Amino acid sequence: MSNHSNASDSVKTLVIVAHPDLEASRINQRLAVELERRGNVTVHRLYETYPDEKIDVAHEQALLLAHDRIVFQFPLHWYSSPSLLKKWLDEVFELGFAHGRGGDKLKGKELLVAISSGGTASMFQAGGLHNYSYGELLRPFQQTANYTGMIYHSPFIVGGIREVTDEQLEKYAVEYAGYVEGQPAVIGTKG
Ligand SMILES: Cc1cc2nc3c(=O)[nH]c(=O)nc-3n(C[C@H](O)[C@H](O)[C@H](O)COP(=O)(O)O)c2cc1C
Repeated sequence: MSNHSNASDSVKTLVIVAHPDLEASRINQRLAVELERRGNVTVHRLYETYPDEKIDVAHEQALLLAHDRIVFQFPLHWYSSPSLLKKWLDEVFELGFAHGRGGDKLKGKELLVAISSGGTASMFQAGGLHNYSYGELLRPFQQTANYTGMIYHSPFIVGGIREVTDEQLEKYAVEYAGYVEGQPAVIGTKG
């Protein structure tokens, strides 16, 4: 256990890392390694767990039930998540589990989203190269949280990845650990 003593110590956190090639990743790999090093959250590397993309739905649902705070961490790919996370959502958030009759199993859990993007924050605004804010582009995640009774938090964003120095990346890693541990308000990197 780490020497952190914040109120969220009893909160069980599951971080689902959806990066198709973590070996080649600079940002998401560093962020995931930081969480693993601290050892107080469950880090679940989706593409490594399911190289054949055949998702064990019962196992994933059991993981969700065992945790209170769920974090989706991924590189922005065409303004959304890499496809395995979408497949995971389609299969795991099924009728009777996440919605519909008896589908209240996620109610009250928290949903956090952490992304990296090639584009810089200033490109993600009206009139900018990418036109829409990160928050707008992440609306499907926000509404998925709303619909399933989850509590959605502002995203954690590492933008303009080519301009992020090694030193800045170390700071992001520390900030990210704080975000995952329940201090979203201190993050200065929101989109
Ligand atoms: C298929 C693909 C689609 C991408 N789409 C976007 C995008 O829509 N917007 C953006 O800013 N960056 C986009 N990028 C850049 C990635 O977000 C960037 O490479 C990633 O965040 C870097 O993180 P990493 O170091 O963990 O790999 C895309 C990259 C790939 C490979």
